[in-house]
Amino acid sequence: MLRLQRVPSLASALLFVGLVIASELHARDATFDWPNLTSSSSLSWVPCFSSFQCARLTVPLQYSNPGAGEAQIALLMSPSSFPKNDSRYLGSILFNPGGPGDSGVNTVMTLASTIRPVIGPQYDFIGFDPRGELCQLPHGRTSYKCYSCSPPEALEFYAPYPQNVNESVSSFGRAYAQSQILGKLAMDRAQLVAESVSTPAVALDMFSIMKALGQDKLNYYGISYGTVLGATFAAMFPNNVGRFVLDGVVDPDGWYQGNMTNLLLDTDKVLTTIYHACVSAGPSLCAIYENTTDLVHARVSRLLDDVHLAPVLVYNDTDPSNITFSVVDYTVVESHILATLKNPYSMATALAEAIVQLENGDGSLILGAAGVTNVAQFATCDFDPSQPYVAGFLDIRAPIECGDSLVDTRRTLQAAQDDYQGMLQLSQFATTIYPLMQGICTHV
Ligand SMILES: *[C@@H]1O[C@H](CO)[C@@H](O)[C@H](O)[C@H]1NC(C)=O
Ligand SMILES: *[C@@H]1O[C@H](CO)[C@@H](O)[C@H](O)[C@H]1NC(C)=O
Ligand SMILES: *[C@@H]1O[C@H](CO)[C@@H](O)[C@H](O)[C@H]1NC(C)=O
Ligand SMILES: *[C@@H]1O[C@H](CO)[C@@H](O)[C@H](O)[C@H]1NC(C)=O
Ligand SMILES: *[C@@H]1O[C@H](CO)[C@@H](O)[C@H](O)[C@H]1NC(C)=O
Ligand SMILES: *[C@@H]1O[C@H](CO)[C@@H](O)[C@H](O)[C@H]1NC(C)=O
Ligand SMILES: *[C@@H]1O[C@H](CO)[C@@H](O)[C@H](O)[C@H]1NC(C)=O
Repeated sequence: MLRLQRVPSLASALLFVGLVIASELHARDATFDWPNLTSSSSLSWVPCFSSFQCARLTVPLQYSNPGAGEAQIALLMSPSSFPKNDSRYLGSILFNPGGPGDSGVNTVMTLASTIRPVIGPQYDFIGFDPRGELCQLPHGRTSYKCYSCSPPEALEFYAPYPQNVNESVSSFGRAYAQSQILGKLAMDRAQLVAESVSTPAVALDMFSIMKALGQDKLNYYGISYGTVLGATFAAMFPNNVGRFVLDGVVDPDGWYQGNMTNLLLDTDKVLTTIYHACVSAGPSLCAIYENTTDLVHARVSRLLDDVHLAPVLVYNDTDPSNITFSVVDYTVVESHILATLKNPYSMATALAEAIVQLENGDGSLILGAAGVTNVAQFATCDFDPSQPYVAGFLDIRAPIECGDSLVDTRRTLQAAQDDYQGMLQLSQFATTIYPLMQGICTHV
């Protein structure tokens, strides 16, 4: 999906792809050096990033095979304002933002000030990075295993990767071929790690973190894929479940069947609701107003068809020393509509305005809303701490999602096409969801 630069609405993760984080609040202390933080099987917190505490916890890479080595998990805490011996102090809440594979450290750093008023001052709020092997990243941050640490190679993979399999006649086949590459690279370069990042392994990490915190019950807040993780923890450790919030729930049975179809159950209904609301709101409040819902729908579909055949350039030479350009195509528009479905209340009005602008041949609003270009986000393994998402989100997602599946997800091209057609029965947005979710598992 597009990695849009905005803060997720905590309660409206209709789909768990594309959980996104504002990047402005990044590393206020960019020199904080994670490798200098000694990792051990107990937690020693040190101050970091102005108002936070950081620690690294050593856990077995494979809980069932101590000989496989160790993994280090980075943790970041927004501390309670009460001291531990205060009767108002209620312990900690562990947080996972989903993905799978997204950084809990970055998310807590970014969202702590938003979430604190919701949870109150009485809890420590703790994010942790998922397990996985490192690229050689500046600042020694943990968590992402790029199969290739070479930016040109990552670009080779990610730039042409179809984020919408309806973009062209070859898009589906290309996504299929690239998923073969992903599977082969995983085996050749990262097999041990790929075999060690399953959701049950992360649930065991959560148990280890809970014990290291000196607690017997886990309080937990999980969003989107984080709800699969929470459900898995609860199934494995039913006696250790404290207070749990599972927000933006992903069907865990479907997840473990390698079948993401149910993600799309209500997606198109949200779009229809926006069109209804547009008709009710009237032309002064809704830029794409037509006098029936069907007409609004037809208007947007027409624009999608037009831009499909004739993508629109955006070229800005206002400042000749800083010329910027991009192309708004079908994939950009559809991805932005899908993103809007996750935050309809805050985004639908602006979407309507961007669509009208695009009808008039100007793609700058929709491009601005969609953030920087895809390639800029996927092009590099040079970890920039201001960018929570660097290259490799499929790298880490694939072994977790595909490895979790209890059924063999490998399929022929024809069987994969049939799968996709089944998803399309539920939602037009299978075009976007398929290559980013189910489609990556056809060879892993
Ligand atoms: C990390 O530790 C090394 C060796 O002790 C030291 O030279 C370096 O300055 C430390 N880096 C930071 C950012 O603290
Ligand atoms: C809590 O601990 C701090 C220092 O560890 C101490 O100064 C304080 O008096 C304690 N408060 C209570 C209510 O026991
Ligand atoms: C995936 O789940 C959906 C909805 O439960 C079902 O209709 C479909 O047949 C499943 N697909 C596969 C390949 O099992
Ligand atoms: C809707 O708009 C069309 C043309 O814009 C018009 O012909 C039609 O009468 C309108 N219908 C209603 C119910 O207002
Ligand atoms: C695929 O693109 C074509 C051409 O724009 C369009 O007519 C069709 O509805 C699209 N399919 C889906 C599922 O969106
Ligand atoms: C074009 O670029 C200038 C800076 O060079 C910027 O101020 C302006 O907002 C840009 N215009 C659009 C439509 O993005
Ligand atoms: C170029 O302009 C864009 C806005 O159009 C701005 O975001 C970017 O920071 C500018 N880059 C430089 C080097 O000034």
